[in-house]
Amino acid sequence: MISVFGSLVGEEEIANVAACMRSQWMGFGKNVDLFENKYMEKFGLKTFAMVDSGSNALFMAVKLLELPPNSEVILPSFTWVSCAQAVILAGHRPVFCDVDLTTMNVRREDIESKITEKTAAIMVVHYAGLAVDMDPILDIGLPVIEDAAHAVDSTYKGQPCGTIGDVGIFSYDAVKNLTVGEGGGITARRSERIERAKVMRYCGIGKSGFDSAVSNAGTKANWWEYCIQEPFIKMLPTNMAAGIGIAQLDRIDDLQARRNEIWNNYQKELSTVPGLITPAEAESGNKHSYFTYCIRVPKRNELAHYLLGEQIYTTLRYHPLHLNALYGQMDIRLPNSEQLNSDALSIPIHPRMTDMEVEKVVNKIITFYNYK
Ligand SMILES: Cc1ncc(COP(=O)(O)O)c(C=O)c1O
Repeated sequence: MISVFGSLVGEEEIANVAACMRSQWMGFGKNVDLFENKYMEKFGLKTFAMVDSGSNALFMAVKLLELPPNSEVILPSFTWVSCAQAVILAGHRPVFCDVDLTTMNVRREDIESKITEKTAAIMVVHYAGLAVDMDPILDIGLPVIEDAAHAVDSTYKGQPCGTIGDVGIFSYDAVKNLTVGEGGGITARRSERIERAKVMRYCGIGKSGFDSAVSNAGTKANWWEYCIQEPFIKMLPTNMAAGIGIAQLDRIDDLQARRNEIWNNYQKELSTVPGLITPAEAESGNKHSYFTYCIRVPKRNELAHYLLGEQIYTTLRYHPLHLNALYGQMDIRLPNSEQLNSDALSIPIHPRMTDMEVEKVVNKIITFYNYK
């Protein structure tokens, strides 16, 4: 089966995990600092903290904004579940908006039509790694969270995605462009927010509390006492995950180059298939991350089933959130998100794919539409 998403790790990642195990230091530790510094240097971030998942980073991001209780946060319906869950768990109400059919990203007008007196923040998602047009959205004047889960290597007008709004998050889960198994990251324009994030991720215990627990034993009278600064849950990344990340940073350019190659191949081979709409390219001056290759096609369901029969796995990212009863917004109409729900399909793109597999995907799609 050709999988739709995938990562690529090698001997260096294995060695870094093995070193953690040999040292018997598998939980939070030095590798986290090393990963954070290397990550900031690689992608040009000024502030950054690693956490244990992108989903948790989203929850932390909403909390960091300190919105009034029961505020409304506007976000695209065409996104991953965690975006809405983070808003609810932080004590607010997600308000779903539509996206553009071409970029699959939110635009200023999609957001503006949903603003009420209770709106306190906006969450944007750089879908597939294509940068949202941020300037018009920042001009609205509300705090902005950037979900850059797909956009680890993306830029907007030369700035790394995730660093343009107030708070940005990244995901390093098993299928992301840069993987650590499960993990995430958070960045913020104001550095004190990331200082606070580093306290929050350890149950709200200040770093001095952690240091005293691990290295100050005997040097302080009561080294077992913590300085608990605020109520929060645990989001600590492990030394092993950070070790994988350190090795991934050394190969990220190669991983991205391979994704780009597959993307270009699809653009060339699929753009002439009648009725098939290929995904949007990055605007000049912006950089794409090629996380998912999402086509729009007639007979989408039939194509997905046909490809599955040919051992090619595809999926829809994402089933629109407003169509889930849980959020109580099934009666609103978001025509573009609903259109994507009926004709969009993510086809395989990941660095482990061979040329033969890419060719197979192309040929099977062409065969299905009986083209050429
Ligand atoms: C857009 C988006 N946001 C957030 C997340 C959550 O990231 P994680 O899987 O690391 O929790 C994902 C994961 O797929 C995602 O696609």
